[in-house]
Amino acid sequence: MSKRVAILISGGGSNMVALADSMTGDHPARPVLVLANSDSAGGLDKARARGIPTAVVDHRPHRGDRPAFEGELQAALEAARPDIICLAGFMRVLTEGFVSRWQGRMLNIHPSLLPKYRGLHTHARALEAGETEAGCTVHLVTPELDDGPILGQARVPVRADDTEDSLAARVLEQEHRLYPAVLRRFAGGETGRLDLP
Ligand code: GRF
Repeated sequence: MSKRVAILISGGGSNMVALADSMTGDHPARPVLVLANSDSAGGLDKARARGIPTAVVDHRPHRGDRPAFEGELQAALEAARPDIICLAGFMRVLTEGFVSRWQGRMLNIHPSLLPKYRGLHTHARALEAGETEAGCTVHLVTPELDDGPILGQARVPVRADDTEDSLAARVLEQEHRLYPAVLRRFAGGETGRLDLP
């Protein structure tokens, strides 16, 4: 029986595409839902083009009431019966109550070498700090933002002439390698850490 994977996005969904396109052949999982928190998320069309069911749970009508938003999110997810949830550029902070319902089954990708640079603007902060190495991390989601057991990391050297954009683009290429590789192992029951060169 394939593991059922729901992918949560907010934007262009390039990580979602990398994940979805990896789940073929002998892969132990299949995508069953791509859910966005806005109907303008570019990734929705890419999911539809792949024949993956989509859903939108808009956070805006629930401004100031995170549990109400998460109630709708929970209902949409339960309807899809996922074994695994992949946050892939999903830009909403989730409450402890929601996270604990899916703990151990919810993964996130973050564009830094955690525990460094949790939160936003990771590349600008890494450049500002004079880092010689940057990268990305896939981790299990716990209530603390961008925390939780690390399942994998990929690294890139920082170049002297790097800008925030050039570094982000190079890290994003690695995100597209790392997330599918981690998901494949995780769906197959392996939770050991993967370090990609
Ligand atoms: C990625 O860099 C992800 O790590 C970050 O947001 C970006 C999402 O890009 N949190 P995409 O929507 O997967 O193209």
